[in-house]
Amino acid sequence: MKKMAVVVGVLLLGSGAVMANQKLAVSQDNFMRGLAKSLYDVLGKMARGNIPYDQAAVDAAIAQIEADVPKIPDTFKDNPKEDVAGGHYGASQKVWQNKADFDSKVPPVIKAVASVKGTVKDVGSLKVAFKTIEDACNGCHETYRVKLK
Ligand code: HEC
Repeated sequence: MKKMAVVVGVLLLGSGAVMANQKLAVSQDNFMRGLAKSLYDVLGKMARGNIPYDQAAVDAAIAQIEADVPKIPDTFKDNPKEDVAGGHYGASQKVWQNKADFDSKVPPVIKAVASVKGTVKDVGSLKVAFKTIEDACNGCHETYRVKLK
């Protein structure tokens, strides 16, 4: 009986560790989705005319991206060693093999956001800002993001 309890305990511990990794992977993925919400669901859709231009929403989206991008190095500090179950994108293991280089992709995004902040006044200037930020984000994705499906 005692032996059985130990075995169950070890099994639980094991699955706990797996869950912690999945939890970390999900939290990293959700963090990126938060950035994407502002960039694509607000700025991108507005730039394409899919939703009406809204200055307050533009300013809030840019402010959210500005606040969150500097948190990327810390958000990806630990390696979950697995992808989000059923996810569309995952982080390459290169992130943790070359963390300093990964982190070096963040300041260009901070710069890009700073360069467009306050310049967006209409759909035309929004298009420019959207593209500027998106290109900077992809400067990291092309090396460190993996398409899973
Ligand atoms: C320093 C690197 C880096 C920068 C900069 C970066 N990302 Fe990511 N991004 C990643 C990595 C790594 C992943 C894969 C992790 C994941 O999704 O689990 C990712 C995933 C994503 C995904 C896919 C999420 C999903 O699974 O559906 C989106 C969307 C995204 N990023 C948007 C952005 C946006 C928008 C910006 C710029 C404002 C940005 N990222 C900047 C590294 C970066």
